[in-house]
Amino acid sequence: MSQPKLSFQPKLSFQNVSRRFGEGDKSFLALDRLNLDIADGEFVTVVGPSGCGKSTAMNIAAGLMDVSDGKVLVDGRPVSGPGPERGVIFQQYALFPWLTVRQNVEFGLRIKGLPASERRRISDHFIGLVGLRDFADALPKTLSGGMKQRCAIARAYAVDPTMLLMDEPFGALDALTRVHMQDQLLDTWSRERRTVFFITHDVDEAVYLANRVIVMAARPGRLHKIIPVNLPAERNEDVRLSKEFTEIRNQVWHSVYHQKPQVEA
Ligand SMILES: Nc1ncnc2c1ncn2[C@@H]1O[C@H](COP(=O)(O)OP(=O)(O)O)[C@@H](O)[C@H]1O
Ligand SMILES: [Mg+2]
Repeated sequence: MSQPKLSFQPKLSFQNVSRRFGEGDKSFLALDRLNLDIADGEFVTVVGPSGCGKSTAMNIAAGLMDVSDGKVLVDGRPVSGPGPERGVIFQQYALFPWLTVRQNVEFGLRIKGLPASERRRISDHFIGLVGLRDFADALPKTLSGGMKQRCAIARAYAVDPTMLLMDEPFGALDALTRVHMQDQLLDTWSRERRTVFFITHDVDEAVYLANRVIVMAARPGRLHKIIPVNLPAERNEDVRLSKEFTEIRNQVWHSVYHQKPQVEA
């Protein structure tokens, strides 16, 4: 995993982003002045206690939620809604149940107006990449949870987004499938370089995948700490079992689970 290339303009930039839910006394500050720049081609993971505003931050970057204050820029332009350059993957497999794996993967390509032969070429590539070649004509209800999620990932990759926004995408998978999916994601990321913003509650996953781990804190939701992951570029089992990995994992664990409470101003 090489260092992200230096660029003057961040790919994704949160500038003093706040989000409040509700009105008056009952209102709740879900995100308090988040400032964060993510470089082009960088893989960042986001961890923090439940309710610290991780999903809120991602939904704002995805253009699915408004800010209360501040702004989010993608490639220097303010986000005003969803865009094809941002692929979004949620924990629940948001597949169209009446479409086959291939039709799901080709959905965005149809909207783009690509001809059938081109759609087929692209869907073949990504269905193969996530290991679903034998299930291309299957309906989602016949697939396991892990397979559905791999289909959702293939669909997100297929439209060729320059950025992936992923909210606990492997949360529902069993441990073994999860490790396999992590390696597949890293493999894809290193071959078809994209910027990734990846939320997880799994500290090991956060360290294994990332260039930097963003630790958030709750009440109010805010940036707590940024921990660089100086591990070898190629992540594998040796890295996962190394002393260096354990040291960073412990550092992240400590900053997630031993946060001092802060009263909302
Ligand atoms: N639509 C909403 N209306 C009211 N409160 C919300 C809404 N969405 C999120 N919240 C609150 O904002 C806080 C942050 O939520 P969220 O971003 O989902 O946290 P996380 O993903 O880190 O667990 C939580 O306390 C949650 O209850
Ligand atoms: Mg969440």
